[in-house]
Parts: sequence; C-alpha cells; structure tokens
Amino acid sequence: MSSSSLEQSLRQRGISRREFLKFCTVMAGTLALESTFGSRIARALEAPKRTPVIWLEFQDCAGCTESFLRASRPTVAEVVLDVLSVDYHETIMAASGHLAEEAKAATIAAGGYLLVVEGSIPVAEDGIYCTIGGRTAVDILKEAAAGAIAVVAVGNCAAFGGLPKAAPNPTDAVGVMDLVTDKPVLNLPGCPLNVVNLTATVVHFLTFEALPEMDDLHRPLFAHGARIHDNCERRGHFDAGEFVQAWGDEGHRKGWCLYQMGCKGPMTYHNCPSVRWNEGTSWPVGSGHGCIGCSEPDFWEWGAYNQAEIFDAAPPANYPPVEQPAQTISPASAAAIAGAAGVAIGAAGVATAKQLSKPEK
Ligand code: SF4
Ligand code: F3S
Repeated sequence: MSSSSLEQSLRQRGISRREFLKFCTVMAGTLALESTFGSRIARALEAPKRTPVIWLEFQDCAGCTESFLRASRPTVAEVVLDVLSVDYHETIMAASGHLAEEAKAATIAAGGYLLVVEGSIPVAEDGIYCTIGGRTAVDILKEAAAGAIAVVAVGNCAAFGGLPKAAPNPTDAVGVMDLVTDKPVLNLPGCPLNVVNLTATVVHFLTFEALPEMDDLHRPLFAHGARIHDNCERRGHFDAGEFVQAWGDEGHRKGWCLYQMGCKGPMTYHNCPSVRWNEGTSWPVGSGHGCIGCSEPDFWEWGAYNQAEIFDAAPPANYPPVEQPAQTISPASAAAIAGAAGVAIGAAGVATAKQLSKPEK
C-alpha cells in the first residue's frame, strides 16, 4: 500500500496524518524504542507490501479476537489491518465453508505469511476433541505453521494451554510451542491478550522484519520484561505494610495493596500497569481486584480468585503471611520485606515464572 493510499484509507476512517504519526510514536514507546523510531515505523507501515495473515482458533473462547477487534483509535482494524491481509479468520471473515478453506489453502500455498493462533490444542486421543472441517487442530496447526514466517500465539491458551489445560486437563491441551518447534514462535499470553502488545509486535515485525526480543517463555520483553508488582500504583502501600484485608474495607476504599486478597502481581510479568486496558482507562489492580497472573503458565492453578491459595502458588518465603494483620508490620520492616522479596524474585527473573508452572508446595 503506498503512502498516499494508506493516508487516503485512514482519512476515510477519520484518522489524520497527525494521528497516524502519533500512533507510530506511541508504538515506538510501547516497544521501548526511542521516539525517533516513529518515522521508521511510519515508513514501514506505508510500504506497499501487505503481509498475509492466517488466524487459527482452536480450544478458545474468542476472547482474544474480541480484544483484537476492540483496539483503541487508531484501531488495529484501522491501521494494522491496512498493512496486513487477514486472509483467514473464522470469526471475522465473510467467507465460510469450502470458500474459507480455499482462501486458507491459497495463502498456505503462496507462503510468506504470519500465523496467529488463538486457543489451546488438544492432543488426547489423536486430537479428536477439536476438529474443524473433519481435521484435527494438531493437523491444521502443523500444516499452517510449515509455510509461516513466524507464529504468534495469542492469549494464555495458545501460549501455555490456558484454561483448557487446567486440572484435570481432560483433552491434554497444550500450547503452540509444544507442537511447533521448527519455526519462531512468539507468545502473547494474557486472558485475553492485550491488543496493544499484538499491535506493537506486528509493528516491530513489519519495521525490523524480525520478532522482538523474547524471554525464555517466548514472550516479548517489551511487554513481559517487568514484574507487575514493580510498576504497580499500589506498591507504596505494600512497602508501607498497608493491605486490604476484606473487600470493601477501609483499605480497599483507600486503594491499599491487594496482596493479602490474593494479588499475584509479585509473580507476574506483564506491562498492564503502563499499557492498561480499554483505551488506557484502567487495569485489574487499578479497578480494585488483584492480578490473577493471567500472563503466566498454569495461572489457573494459582487459585485465581482465591486469596487462601496464594501461598500454594509459590510466594517468596519472606512475604507477609495472609493471616498477619497489616498493623503489625511497621513501614520500615515492610520496606525491608519488599526489598528482600524484590531481590529474591528479581534475581530469579524469568526462571521464577518458569518454576511457577509447577508450583512448589
Ligand atoms: Fe500491586 Fe498486587 Fe503488588 Fe500489591 S501485591 S503492590 S496490589 S501488584
Ligand atoms: Fe492479567 Fe494481571 Fe494483567 S490478571 S491482565 S496480568 S494485571
């Protein structure tokens, strides 16, 4: 798509050149690049080539697709879809049945596409728990991955197995990287994924012709390189030993720390505090509920909504116990606890997240 035709397309959607350039600068910031990269991003998005995309859905709730369609302005639909060619997406494509399958087959035959996968893949009993058009998800995934430049697994289900993998995991659900080992696989976990991170990944891919730098769970560092706890607006209350102890109590009304209500922010690596949700309006902790760790492997086993189970989820030993009244922790000792815990988790880094996939009890 040429610069003028992209501009024309954006103008038709009521997006000015200024807004487009602002979007490029915001993307540079999200990717932790200097703002000067904004112009390079703009040039990449204006390039005539449109990258084909195949978007597969397996054991999912389509929540990530919903997230994808509800990006803020300029939206994914308005900008990224102008530079991508989504040739196959069961939820949003107009074609169905044989026509849809033919569109996918043509894209696979041409090669050079980006494969996006949403939902986990069941491998029990030869994969019969998820079939589309008479073929198993395992089969469909392997065929589509073979010709892809790279695979992006969106949401916790595609990345790590997500809710379908929760015990007792009746379908033996797995994530994409368990099955695709000969292609670059990037995980964008979250339940659902944050579309800002998908947009930034696509922008990075189009600008640098490469996936962004990843951690050992295949998550982009720009989105998953920092712990929620270290960027949380309630962290000052944690350090001061000020904890919510019951929903609606005085501490809750004052915005105190949600750790004793089960917040998994100390074990979760995600950029939610800075990127936020719903056009940057808020995020789980900001709205008064603890983080449930939705960007980590097997987060459902952590007792997402259960404060009593937080210690089963591998908390650092030197964290204040849930039962301990906040008032007994002086600000000085709370700061020391927080500091020690930060070092404990920080030093382990991503390895900690990996260990958490099999919590030690
Ligand atoms: Fe924020 Fe949760 Fe950490 Fe408290 S425990 S500071 S609410 S991330
Ligand atoms: Fe998920 Fe926690 Fe962010 S629940 S959306 S990682 S605040």
